[in-house]
Amino acid sequence: MHNLTAPFDAPIDHAAPLAGAADARIFAIVNQKGGVGKTTTAVNLATALAAVEKRVLLIDFDPQGNASTGLGITRQNRRVTSYDVLLADVSVAEAAVPTPIPLLSLVPSSVDLSGAEIELVEVSGREFRLRKALEGVLGAYDYVLIDCPPSLGLLTLNALVAAHAVLVPLQCEFYALEGLSHLVRTVERIKRSLNPGLEIQGVVLTMFDKRNILSDLVAADVRGHFGDKVYDTVIPRNVRTSEAPSHGKPVLIYDFRSAGAQAYIHLASEVLRREKAHRDQVRA
Ligand SMILES: Nc1ncnc2c1ncn2[C@@H]1O[C@H](COP(=O)(O)OP(=O)(O)OP(=O)(O)O)[C@@H](O)[C@H]1O
Ligand SMILES: [Mg+2]
Repeated sequence: MHNLTAPFDAPIDHAAPLAGAADARIFAIVNQKGGVGKTTTAVNLATALAAVEKRVLLIDFDPQGNASTGLGITRQNRRVTSYDVLLADVSVAEAAVPTPIPLLSLVPSSVDLSGAEIELVEVSGREFRLRKALEGVLGAYDYVLIDCPPSLGLLTLNALVAAHAVLVPLQCEFYALEGLSHLVRTVERIKRSLNPGLEIQGVVLTMFDKRNILSDLVAADVRGHFGDKVYDTVIPRNVRTSEAPSHGKPVLIYDFRSAGAQAYIHLASEVLRREKAHRDQVRA
């Protein structure tokens, strides 16, 4: 178990070169269950990657707009959104706005996106809309993170078709594994048909409560099912983490020393280690 309150000394891979001319890696943050920590993970992982000088684009792909709010992007600054990118042929470059975090940009979302699931049904190549839209900007970023809505509908499908890797946040609660086999089967189906390179990079346990024995039981159960796909880092249930979005800040900025912030720093270093292992494997 990591020491979650350790200072910012996680072995982040500073030596890795920026992608430069190479294309961004695209991560979809997915779980069709609501409230499991997808947005919190997307916002804080994006911030931690930007903090180690990765150029990051976060796409708010949920009509709730929580990632946009969590990064302090006001409604007035959400005029061009992920809806326009999907359905109005607006480029990602046009939709992306800077955030208060250096090197982190955001494509905000709006409630219009809730209609997109239905509107997309009529559109040709409907599963490929996001992938196509991202093609033009891949050279500009090292990482693109997509914060998905709590469903496996056409929005999440677009994210899974565009992504290289999937990151699954799992809340440490009784029904954590429910629906997971459906998600895994969906990823496998997309891998066989629309996106052969897709893989689940990892499962991250969130809202772990060390005072609750159930958290330990769930964590053991999830590790039993997913083995080393589960990141070593566990995100603890942490009040500062839940307060941060109402201040329009990632917890990494709101309270850097909090257990939540430190855990997300560790998670970022693990994600980068797995990325390096993946690059080495591809080269070999
Ligand atoms: N580690 C944590 N400690 C305490 N609260 C947390 C933690 N992670 C997330 N939360 C809180 O739990 C709630 C759900 O988190 P979050 O919005 O990240 O989940 P989500 O999976 O994106 O939800 P949705 O499915 O609605 O998009 C939020 O109020 C968030 O602030
Ligand atoms: Mg969310």
